[in-house]
Amino acid sequence: PRPILLTRHGESMDNVRGRIGGDNPLSDTGEIYAKKLANFVEKRLKSERAASIWTSTLERAILTASPIVGFPKIQWRALDEINAGVCDGMTYEEIKKNMPDEYEARMKDKLRYRYPRGESYLDVIQRLEPVIIELERQRAPVVVISHQAVLRALYAYFADRPLKEVPHIEMPLHTIIEIQMGVTGVQEKRYKLMD
Ligand code: F6P
Repeated sequence: PRPILLTRHGESMDNVRGRIGGDNPLSDTGEIYAKKLANFVEKRLKSERAASIWTSTLERAILTASPIVGFPKIQWRALDEINAGVCDGMTYEEIKKNMPDEYEARMKDKLRYRYPRGESYLDVIQRLEPVIIELERQRAPVVVISHQAVLRALYAYFADRPLKEVPHIEMPLHTIIEIQMGVTGVQEKRYKLMD
């Protein structure tokens, strides 16, 4: 069986500031993760010649992949983080204060709530379909370096979690989730690379 390795990008400057969305580089901690991830991937996939690294098109994901050498890298727009529309760049506190109705609506139905001029979790799930088809088709291991909401959706698909749980799945930074699809079903391992 061939593994799929899922990971969020290393901590970004926006993660540090508590801002959602955006497109900015890694913090120092995020850069350390990128190096540890490269080490892990190079060891774990040493003899896997056909393995590939898939990232979003956002800087924080591309930078997280950059220390990994020896495998082809593919950028997918479909792996970009949920588009927070008018709320992009805000903190949850700012949304709560300045757009209380939006905040409430999202709290009530996080799966279906669509950010004004942005996306919902359902939108994200839908745009991931081609990525999932391609992942299913691969015979070699794939490392997916993406974002919290997108990885919740991908993980839920492979781990067979119900739709309503998707927006609430825990998806910590600096952790690799390894999924193995075998005849007896899906097996999962987690590697926390930083304390
Ligand atoms: O905070 C990091 C982040 O990836 C944001 O860019 C994104 O809006 C958010 O997580 C998604 O998580 P949630 O759906 O819980 O707000």
